[in-house]
Amino acid sequence: MEYKDIIYKTPVKYGLINYEKTYEDFGWEEVKRSFEHFSHDGVNIAHEGIDRHTSTSHRNKVALLWEDENGHKKEYTFSDIKRQSDKLANALKGIGINKGDRVFLFLPRIPELYISIIAIAKIGAIAGPMFSAFGPGAIKDRLLNSEAKALITTPELNQRVNEAKEELPMLKYIILVGAKDNLKKGELSYESEINKASEAFNITWVNPEDYLYILYTSGTTGKPKGVTHVHNDMISHYITTKWVLDLMDDDVYWCTADPGWVTGTVYGIWGPWLNGISQVVYSGRYDAEKWYSIIEKHKVTVWYTAPTALRMLMKAGDEIIKKYDLSSLRYICSVGEPLNPEVIRWGLGVYNLPIHDNWWQTETGSIMIANYPSLPIKPGSMGKPFPGICAKIIDAKGKELPSGKHGFLALKPGWPSMLRKIWRDRDKYNEYFRTSGWYATGDTAYMDDDGYFWFVGRADDVINTAGHRVGPFEVESALVEHEAIAEAGVIGKPDKERGEIIKAFVVLNQGHQSSDGLKKDIQEFIKKRLAAHAYPREIEFTQNVPKTRSGKIMRRVLKARDLGLPTGDLSTLEED
Ligand code: PRX
Repeated sequence: MEYKDIIYKTPVKYGLINYEKTYEDFGWEEVKRSFEHFSHDGVNIAHEGIDRHTSTSHRNKVALLWEDENGHKKEYTFSDIKRQSDKLANALKGIGINKGDRVFLFLPRIPELYISIIAIAKIGAIAGPMFSAFGPGAIKDRLLNSEAKALITTPELNQRVNEAKEELPMLKYIILVGAKDNLKKGELSYESEINKASEAFNITWVNPEDYLYILYTSGTTGKPKGVTHVHNDMISHYITTKWVLDLMDDDVYWCTADPGWVTGTVYGIWGPWLNGISQVVYSGRYDAEKWYSIIEKHKVTVWYTAPTALRMLMKAGDEIIKKYDLSSLRYICSVGEPLNPEVIRWGLGVYNLPIHDNWWQTETGSIMIANYPSLPIKPGSMGKPFPGICAKIIDAKGKELPSGKHGFLALKPGWPSMLRKIWRDRDKYNEYFRTSGWYATGDTAYMDDDGYFWFVGRADDVINTAGHRVGPFEVESALVEHEAIAEAGVIGKPDKERGEIIKAFVVLNQGHQSSDGLKKDIQEFIKKRLAAHAYPREIEFTQNVPKTRSGKIMRRVLKARDLGLPTGDLSTLEED
C-alpha cells in the first residue's frame, strides 16, 4: 500500500467510541429518537435545529457568533434566532410565500442569510442558497430553473440580478437586506418586513419527504443541476455532525464554507444547530492572519475547512502561527478535494493535531466516508464509510471489485439525506442510478485491505478547483459568448495549491488577434458572466479544439496534450 505512516491517537473522550462495533449495530431509525418531533405526519428541521433548544437550558446559549472583515461582531442566542426567524416566516407568509415555493438567497455570509434559511424551512418553503460570487448568468440559470418566487439579497448584489429580471416572470418579490429607500416595484425591505411582523408564529409541520433546499451543482454536460433535498436529511445531518465533526455541547465550532456550497448549508447551519452547538461565522475573505485571529478570539475548538485553505495557510508560513494562541483547537476536519499527506504532516507539526479528511457530495447531502476521532489516520485516505453507509468499488457493470483495485466509487442507495430529485430533470436524476442497485458518485477510488478508501479522481470531466465543482461545459458556453471566441474547450489542470485550475483552449474568430490584453478581457468576461471562482486562470489560443465526429469536445485529448501524456484512442476524433 502507498501509505508510509499511520497516525495513531491517544484515546480521549469522543462521540463515536468504537467505529467497528457502531458500524455493525447501526440503524437510522434509532437516530430519529434524538429529535423532539419525528413523525410521518409532521416534522420540521427548523424546529429541531432552533425552536426546541429554546425550551431547554440552551435557550440563552449562543447559536451564532458573527464577525466581519472589519471586526464588527454580533451574537445571537438560540432564542434570538427563533424570534427573528419566526418574524421573517410571518413576513414571508404575509406576502404569499407558501409551502413548496422556492425562495432563493443571494447574500454574503451575514446573519440575515442564516435567519432566512431557518425562516424558509419554518413555512415549508424551499431555500436556494446562491454563492455571492456568482455573476448574472449563473443567477439567471438558477432562478429560471427553480421558478423562484422570491429572492433575498442586498442592494449591491441585486445589481447582478437586475440584468436578468426581465426574463424572470416567476420572481415576484426581491427582499433587500440593508436597502435605504427607493424601492422599486416588487422590492421589499427585509428590515421593515421584520419590524412589521408578529413574533407569534406556528411552525408548518411537513412530511419528512417534503423539500427543504436546492443547491445547483455542475456535471459534465448541460446547465447546473438543481440537487433537491428534504427535511428527512436531518437524520444524517445530526448524526454525522456528532460523530465525524465530533461536536460536543461545550464546543465552539467554525465551518469556513459558504452556504452557497453544500458544506456551508449542511455543516455551517443544520448539522451544528441540530446538535445545539455554538458556531462562528466569519463573513470576510480568506486571510491567514484573520483566520488565526478568529480561532484565537472566539476560542474555536472544532474547525471544518478545505484542503486549498490549508495549503494556503501552509504557504503563509509557520511564523505567523506563533503570533496567535490556537490552544483552544482540539479537532480539525477537511473536505472537498484530496487532502495531501504533506498537509496532514504539516498540521501535526504546527497545530499539534491531525487533520481529518472526509468525503461526500452535494448529492449525498451528508458525509459518507470519513476519518473519525477514534480511528488511526492513514494520511492521504478519505477514511471509512459512515455507519449505515455501504460504499464499494465497482466496475462499469456494477460488479464489486476486491481491495486494492481501482474502480468507480458507488454507494448503496437509501441513506436519509440522499438527493430526492434533480429539479425539473428526471433524466439527470436517473443517471445517478444507471448501474442497477447503485448510486454512482462519478469518482474513482480504491479500498485497501483495512477498509480505508483512497480517492483517485473523477470519472468524468468535472473540474474541482479549490474545492469548487465547476462544469467545463458551462465555462465553454460562457466563453463562446465572448465576441472574439469561435470555439472553446476547457479542462482542469493540476495545480499544487488549488488542486486544479481551469484552463481554456480557445479558437478566435476571424479578425481577432491573440494577446495578453485579450486574455485578461476574456477572464473578466467569465468572472462577470459566470462566477469569480469559475474563470480560466490559464488561456491558450489554438487553431482547433479536438472533437468527436458527433461534435463533442474531447477534453481528455486536450488534457493529455497539455500534460504531455499519450492521447489514447483517437479513433472518434473528427478528421479535418
Ligand atoms: O470529486 C469529489 C470531490 O468533490 C466532489 C463533490 O463536490 P461537491 O458536490 O461540490 O461537494 C464538495 C463538498 C462536500 C466529489 O465527487 N471531493 C469531495 N470530498 C473529497 C473530494 N475529493 C477528494 N477527497 C475528498 N475528501
